[in-house]
Amino acid sequence: MTKITITRVAEFIGSEAQIQGWVYNLRSSGSICFLQVRDGSGFIQAIVNKSSVSAEVWQRAEQATIESSVVLTGQISKHPKKEEYELQVSDIKLVQVAEEYPIGKKEHGPDFLLDMRHLWLRAPSQWAIQRVRNTVINGIYEFLNQQDYIKIDSPILTPNACEGTTELFEINYFDWAKAYLSQSGQLYIEAAIFAHGRVFDFGPVFRAEKSKTRRHLTEFWMMDAEAAFVEHQENMKIQENLICFVVEKVLSQNQKELAILERDIEPLKKIQAPFGRMTHAEAVKKLQGLGSDIKDSDDFGADDETLLTKDSGVPIFVEKWPAEIKAFYMKRDQSGTVALCDDLIAPEGFGEVIGGSQREDDYDILLKRIKEHKLPLEEFQWYLDLRKYGSVPHSGFGIGLERLVGWICGTHHIRETIPFPRMINRIRP
Ligand code: 4AD
Ligand code: MG
Repeated sequence: MTKITITRVAEFIGSEAQIQGWVYNLRSSGSICFLQVRDGSGFIQAIVNKSSVSAEVWQRAEQATIESSVVLTGQISKHPKKEEYELQVSDIKLVQVAEEYPIGKKEHGPDFLLDMRHLWLRAPSQWAIQRVRNTVINGIYEFLNQQDYIKIDSPILTPNACEGTTELFEINYFDWAKAYLSQSGQLYIEAAIFAHGRVFDFGPVFRAEKSKTRRHLTEFWMMDAEAAFVEHQENMKIQENLICFVVEKVLSQNQKELAILERDIEPLKKIQAPFGRMTHAEAVKKLQGLGSDIKDSDDFGADDETLLTKDSGVPIFVEKWPAEIKAFYMKRDQSGTVALCDDLIAPEGFGEVIGGSQREDDYDILLKRIKEHKLPLEEFQWYLDLRKYGSVPHSGFGIGLERLVGWICGTHHIRETIPFPRMINRIRP
């Protein structure tokens, strides 16, 4: 018997095939039993007709419960009008008859669903989000590989801070050192550009942020990209092209998933270069005009980001931020007060998805910044070394994977975009 996945049923119309999966819904009329089955690749309706199967097969069909694991054999047929397929069952094997499933059809609150995350992952909406996430990950790899970037892995255990010291998770490293969980691999991949020119990493990063918002996780996945001989403007172009590439890939590969999520795809179809560009000063002025009480040297709150992109179909780069509120490693423009950096703000209220900048490449200036930020010099000596041996202008950026997936899927809270979310008040399951 040919074992197939549900995605391949169209190739087997009229033939006998075997599907292995789980019953996610069922109903029986006494002489006919409808099993809604999913196998990870897709969903199909299986029909057991009492009059055309043996008494044992019928009995097994009646024993099946929601989430029971099954192996079904039968003939594949196509709906005469729709792109829908059915399995006319001739045999059923019950692999395991599931106990009463705790996630029912009634509405559950978010806390209950997050406690049940190990089971909730099976729900169609959650299934769809993880499929989109997979496309986004592969899209990022594909785009960067095409642009001659290679993947290089940065460490997770580090002796120093990348993005400021207030959000570090500290661990005791064999009683002889303090270590921290990485906030971003950026500093390490900067070292790698001097070997490979263009590199990226992709992995979990950690922030002990006390933020309880729908955009913050304490563990999330970041893709940091870094390139030698790339300056601020070109850095933004790379980000723009990457986002367009990924959105287009999701639109072409995940129509079914976006439909399950009831994601309006019209706004996604508009994601094309060029994106909006404005300086931080211009953005502040615009926000003030729209009624925000933001001050000249303020970071943006979520409300400001939403307000700023309200009338824009495309994402907006907010560039050239006041240097004093940005990281120590950012290069400044000639004025010396503005950092050559950008935050990319997604439309539809999804907020910042990328942070990037040109890096300071001068040894003396970088040394000064490290001192100004009161960072432990001995832990940054290796980073300063990069400015001693063949320093070049270079830039990079970091994408928050969950923010990007959340925006593309139209997910209200990014906790649904990661399989097992870690937040200020949650570490289980
Ligand atoms: O803007 P951030 O802090 O930039 C950096 O870490 C740089 N070192 C990156 C680089 O230049 N290589 O973080 C980058 C992105 C943000 O734009 C946001 O999308 C995401 O990471 N992010 C978070 N996502 C979820 N939860 C949090 N607590 C996040 N903090 C940042
Ligand atoms: Mg940022």
